[in-house]
Order: sequence, then C-alpha cells, then structure tokens
Amino acid sequence: MNPELHTLPTGRHHVACIMDGNGRWAETRDLPRTAGHTAGEENLASIVRAAAQRDIGWLTVFGFSTENWVRPRAEVRHILGLHERLFGRVEELNDNNIRIRWIGRPFDSPESRTPRFVQRSIRKAIADTAQNTGMVLTVAFDYGSRFEMMNAARNARADGSDLNMNDITKRLHDADLPPVDVMIRTSGEIRVSNFLLWQAAGAAIHFTDTAWPDLSASELDTALSLVEAS
Ligand code: IPE
Ligand code: IPE
Ligand code: MG
Repeated sequence: MNPELHTLPTGRHHVACIMDGNGRWAETRDLPRTAGHTAGEENLASIVRAAAQRDIGWLTVFGFSTENWVRPRAEVRHILGLHERLFGRVEELNDNNIRIRWIGRPFDSPESRTPRFVQRSIRKAIADTAQNTGMVLTVAFDYGSRFEMMNAARNARADGSDLNMNDITKRLHDADLPPVDVMIRTSGEIRVSNFLLWQAAGAAIHFTDTAWPDLSASELDTALSLVEAS
C-alpha cells in the first residue's frame, strides 16, 4: 500500500465495485437482460448490508456509465427504474446507519443526462440519510471518470488555479471520497473501466468470474483480504 495515496486510518476501508455481468447472468438463464439488472439491484442491497457489517467505511458502486446511454431504450428505462428503487431504500439504509451519496455528471452541467425523476430520488435519499454516521454508500450514475477529471480541470481553470494535484482532487464530483483500497470487477472482465481512475491509483484489484448478481459476502471478504495483505 502506498502510504502517500492511502492516508486513511487503518480499518474503515474504501471498496469500489464495477457491477458487471447482469446481462450475461440473465442470458445464461434464458431470461431477458432486464431480469439480470433486477437481480443485480437486489444483490447490491445484500452486498450493502454485508459491507455495513464489515470494516468498510465507504462502498462505491458503478451503476450506470456515461457510455451506457446508447443501450436499447427499454433496457435504459428499466435501469433508470431500478435506480429509483435503489435510492428509495431509505428505511433499509437508515436501519443500517448508512449514508447514501451519488457521483455523476452534475445535474446542472450541459452534458448531464439524468432524468428529473431519478434526480429527485437521488436528492431525497441523500437528504433522508444524511444524519447517519456509519458506512457511506456512493452510487455512480451517469458517471464517467474521464468526464469527472476533465470537469475538475475545467473548473480549476475557471477558478484561475495553477493546477496542482489538490486543485483537481477537491473539484472531483465528491471531494470527500477517500482513495479506493480495493476495486472489485465482476464477470470475468480483466480490464480497467472508466471508473474512479483518479481515486483508485494504488488500489488492489479483485477480478472475478462471478457475475454481479451472484457476488457473495464471502467474496467480498476475499477482496478485503487483499487490502489486509498489502
Ligand atoms: C452491468 O451489467 C450493468 C450495467 C452496465 C448497467 P451489463 O449490462 O454490462 O452486463 P453484461 O456485461 O452485458 O453481461
Ligand atoms: C461497466 O460495465 C459499467 C457499469 C458496471 C455501470 P459495462 O458493461 O458498461 O462496461 P464495458 O463497456 O464492458 O467496459
Ligand atoms: Mg457489461
């Protein structure tokens, strides 16, 4: 672990998940892809509960990327509805003392594509869980890491900054998000994604063939053991 990148006190790790493979999970079961997304959202709820019981202070998940808008309209619509459902799980989040946050293209930026009904559910969930003191769950929706870094640089320039590292870090979508300790990518894709590229410098990576809807709490432990071993 690089001590300069990882300034968190020991414990309370930051785990990031690229929730990939919902479509293939459904296809292998002769189900429509939308069923895979539904199963993925349900598994996220159970991974969130498991994470809150472990030494995880921050869980950040990739829900929908800036590139995913080109998918068929019906699939996009289904995924939007699932995000409304996810951000609607306020009672469950409160029961587990979890604060929910969101990262993505800011709603007031010209590039933003998040529809109003999802914006509303995001704002409401953030407000209704803001008083919690436990794990921070951050959902990346309409998120792209390259956009985030470009946007931070753009804002720094507009502020007349001479662009040092901190000038970028503090203008990322969520300046309070700590460095990632371990990144999990499901579904056998052994490659980098457009996800938290700035925040994940130095992170351990757990690649697994398991599709997101099947990821278990024990596999979360396997990923966490990478942090503890480093
Ligand atoms: C991840 O599963 C969910 C989103 C990208 C929204 P996919 O839909 O990418 O599933 P595969 O990769 O096609 O199996
Ligand atoms: C990554 O999955 C994005 C999310 C999990 C939301 P994709 O399936 O969109 O990623 P690529 O395009 O295969 O890298
Ligand atoms: Mg995929």
